[in-house]
Amino acid sequence: WPICVVLISSLLGEYAFFKNYLNNIYKKMTGRSADKRYKIAVFASGGGSNAERIIKYFSNGLAKQISVDLLVTNKALAGAITKAQNHDVPFIIINDQDLEVPTTLIQTLKDKKITHIVLAGFLKKIPKDILNTYPNRIINIHPALLPKYGGHGMYGHNVHEAVKKNGDTETGISIHLVNEAYDEGKLIFQKSCNIYADDTAESIAQKVLLLEHTHFAPVIKDWILADDI
Ligand code: GAR
Repeated sequence: WPICVVLISSLLGEYAFFKNYLNNIYKKMTGRSADKRYKIAVFASGGGSNAERIIKYFSNGLAKQISVDLLVTNKALAGAITKAQNHDVPFIIINDQDLEVPTTLIQTLKDKKITHIVLAGFLKKIPKDILNTYPNRIINIHPALLPKYGGHGMYGHNVHEAVKKNGDTETGISIHLVNEAYDEGKLIFQKSCNIYADDTAESIAQKVLLLEHTHFAPVIKDWILADDI
């Protein structure tokens, strides 16, 4: 019957009224508003292949309540900027000072009504003030199976070189909440892949990136929709 109500009310030009009515029912049943928009800021320092996947995933209508509304980068030449421009996502370039005293950055995030932050290859530490502004609302992807190969200096290719050097037979991805320590926040998701004797750091990197591209955006969606802000 809700579909009938919407159809009939649309025909009668009363859609706004009934939409509100249906929203109230939805809110009573689920405790949250059907209209609620979750707005993501993606932070990226590098090529931005994950940033692009995430932008595309949330612009194809799969999760209507979620959109990527800002890209934040600390590198003026980051490939992530072009990716954002290609998809009409606004971007800002920040420097070390902006992270040391993040007042302006926090204001920008608030002005854009950002609700969640996703770190997709962002190599700077997130300042305490931002963590406090977005408690449990910041996640990061790491290209290894944490707690292995985490911590300062463990990013990108360094991770895959270390995995290869140690002769591990598996690696993978970890998606976790961000706290004050590098790569130590609560784990949300992990996925592994095999490493064979003839794999190189480069081929390991490719396998891991494929896992990231496959899983990151859907995990973000589930994580955000499980939130009850
Ligand atoms: C990704 O592999 C991500 O896991 C890694 O940076 C890469 C960014 O690639 N992040 C870290 O190492 C964080 N410690 P992209 O720019 O193509 O998305």
